[in-house]
Amino acid sequence: MPQALDIVVLAAGKGTRMVSERPKVLHEIAGKSLLRHVLDTIKALDPEQICVVYGYGGEAVPQAIADPSLKMVKQEPQLGTGHAVQQALHCLHEDHVTLVLYGDVPLTRIETLLPLIRIAQGGKVGLLTVEMKNPYGYGRIVREGGKVRRIVEEKDASAEERKITEVNTGIMALPNQYLPGWLAALKNCNVQSEYYLTDVIGLAVSDGIEVATAHPAHHREVLGVNSKSQLAQLERMYQQEQAHKLLDGGVTLLDPERIDIRGTLVCGKDVVIDINCVFEGHVKLGDGVKVGANCVVRDVTIEKGCNIEPFSLLEKATMGADCRIGPFARIRPGTQLAEEVHIGNFVEVKNSQVGFNSKINHLSYIGDATVGAKVNVGAGAITCNYDGANKHRTVIEDGAFIGSDTQLVAPVTIARGATIGAGSTITKDTPEDELTLSRARQITIRGWKRPVKKAKE
Ligand code: UD1
Ligand code: CA
Repeated sequence: MPQALDIVVLAAGKGTRMVSERPKVLHEIAGKSLLRHVLDTIKALDPEQICVVYGYGGEAVPQAIADPSLKMVKQEPQLGTGHAVQQALHCLHEDHVTLVLYGDVPLTRIETLLPLIRIAQGGKVGLLTVEMKNPYGYGRIVREGGKVRRIVEEKDASAEERKITEVNTGIMALPNQYLPGWLAALKNCNVQSEYYLTDVIGLAVSDGIEVATAHPAHHREVLGVNSKSQLAQLERMYQQEQAHKLLDGGVTLLDPERIDIRGTLVCGKDVVIDINCVFEGHVKLGDGVKVGANCVVRDVTIEKGCNIEPFSLLEKATMGADCRIGPFARIRPGTQLAEEVHIGNFVEVKNSQVGFNSKINHLSYIGDATVGAKVNVGAGAITCNYDGANKHRTVIEDGAFIGSDTQLVAPVTIARGATIGAGSTITKDTPEDELTLSRARQITIRGWKRPVKKAKE
């Protein structure tokens, strides 16, 4: 049985270069905090425990993460990465191994972490290192005869050591049995007067414990966020990776550089997505769905064959097969559209069910309504669902025809097959299959004259 795994995530730093009041690890990539990215990734490692070391920003980090299964340890003041792991020491079990991660390095993959853990389970120290053309700012890996001897920080390095291009990513795995001794032995006699976790490498070597290195498949996996500019770069890398996964899965993206996925997007076959679309939360697109340019789609399930025309905003809704939505449609939470529904331009639908093949094609507001099948709602027709205090439902039964510019004052029911004359204000239930209208009769005032401008004095 390999030893069980403990994970320590360092997240106490302020991140001065973010120029923000928010702790750095709470800044977001793809709508999710940096720290949450790390925590979501490591779940798959099935660790015995996860300990998050927080500090800057008071309780902002534990409040934002709010997960009782995590051990949250406060580091106050922040005296360096070694000091940070020391704060977590009481959470770590001496028979386990510990993986140390940074809360501001969000894109590391499980496949990169597993070999490190294996190294620690083999009784050695596992260190994730990477070659960098420009290693400025990173700790350098000092080797002798090919073997790792120690890590030297940029600020403490000699001119000769600064030429080393193998750098410390900060990610390491260690057998816990050595940690109390090594952490207690750390000194802060360095340029930054900090207790460096990186000094445990030299201590391990002195104790005759071998340090073995592993390397990430992709460079982005070890990139940390220290500034808004790096945050934006990682956001693009992350989005590109997602876009290419979609392309590999057969989705047509008119431009993989111009799509943003902040959550999960599951696509059927032959889905086509035009430029500048944003997908948030959980979105499912069925076979053959087309999404036009500049749509925002949030927590929506869209069945096969639907066509979402440009500039539509869809949120917390479901759409049956072969619907046509937009352009410029707004589908709000609680909307359920059956198959072959048409929602046209400048139409807002909220908390409503719309039945098979019904059409609401122009300039309407349909809120808190139950609309049957094959209903036609004319241009500018609206439901008056709110009386200033409470919301009420409008029911429009199968086959009804609502004339243009009609107000349906809820609660009200338009019975099956009823026709409402254009321009009506309907406050009472209307009978089946009859024409109902409420409007002043049209009259002509013979000889009426338009007002004329008074002559200037
Ligand atoms: C660290 C490494 C360096 C490595 C680099 C990779 C040390 C001494 N140096 O340097 O070798 O190349 O990462 O990015 O470890 N943190 C705390 N408490 C503290 C200090 C830091 O929790 O007291 C956390 C930070 O929030 C951050 C991480 O540890 O998530 C790294 O800290 P940072 O100050 O960025 O270390 P670097 O100087 O970049
Ligand atoms: Ca850093």
